[in-house]
Amino acid sequence: MHRGVLTAADDPLVVDLGYGATPITAVELHARVRAVRPDARVVGIEIDQARVDAAADAVTDGLSFARGGFELAGLRPVVIRAFNVLRQYDEKAAADGWQTMREGLQGNGILLEGTCDEVGRRAAWVTLGPEGPRTLTLAAAVDHLDRPSSLAERLPKALIHHNVAGSPVHRLLRELDRAWDAAAPLGTFGNRQRWAAMCAGLQWEQVGRRRDGELTVPWPTVA
Ligand SMILES: C[S@@+](CC[C@H](N)C(=O)[O-])C[C@H]1O[C@@H](n2cnc3c(N)ncnc32)[C@H](O)[C@@H]1O
Repeated sequence: MHRGVLTAADDPLVVDLGYGATPITAVELHARVRAVRPDARVVGIEIDQARVDAAADAVTDGLSFARGGFELAGLRPVVIRAFNVLRQYDEKAAADGWQTMREGLQGNGILLEGTCDEVGRRAAWVTLGPEGPRTLTLAAAVDHLDRPSSLAERLPKALIHHNVAGSPVHRLLRELDRAWDAAAPLGTFGNRQRWAAMCAGLQWEQVGRRRDGELTVPWPTVA
């Protein structure tokens, strides 16, 4: 779904915001985007200068690092990845961070803002354009998934405090569990089959891919 954003970009600049103690996510992102756009540049941006210094050894053709925050060190990327960054902010500051990053995007750019667990088996992210949030994606390594609602702990800051009975995102997670339970017989063939059956039986508007362990819904249905 996002591949086209990168392939169509006049300036294929990608930012990994808040890459952390090691530059590994930026290094992996660089490899992946270069497979799609060999002329792409990835810049890892960190607010912590020591982490920028520590990434110096990873600098290579098309991969560099800079100190900065939500203002993106003055860069104008077509894609921003910001994972496990906004969790440490309160809701208002996270919303302000969204806005500042959206304003820094190229006209057709996207911001992917989300959280995942340490080993990447559970993740949730919001895809935003310059105009605002578009979709919520939930993703799981389904072989390790007990129930879809266990993804709740990975909801982005904008939703996690709103996951209470009666709220749209709470209804989505309940509906996922209902459809997951209804698909239990498919579990005989493995959780991938069960996930696919859950998606097929889900009474919720879905957009984009329904790949193994990944489900994307329109933002207005959960906001
Ligand atoms: C938990 S680590 C996330 C590491 C990595 N993104 C990941 O998903 O594993 C959060 C990082 O975000 C950085 N950070 C926090 N606020 C930031 C901001 N406004 N701009 C850039 N980096 C920020 C912190 O210094 C920290 O290194």
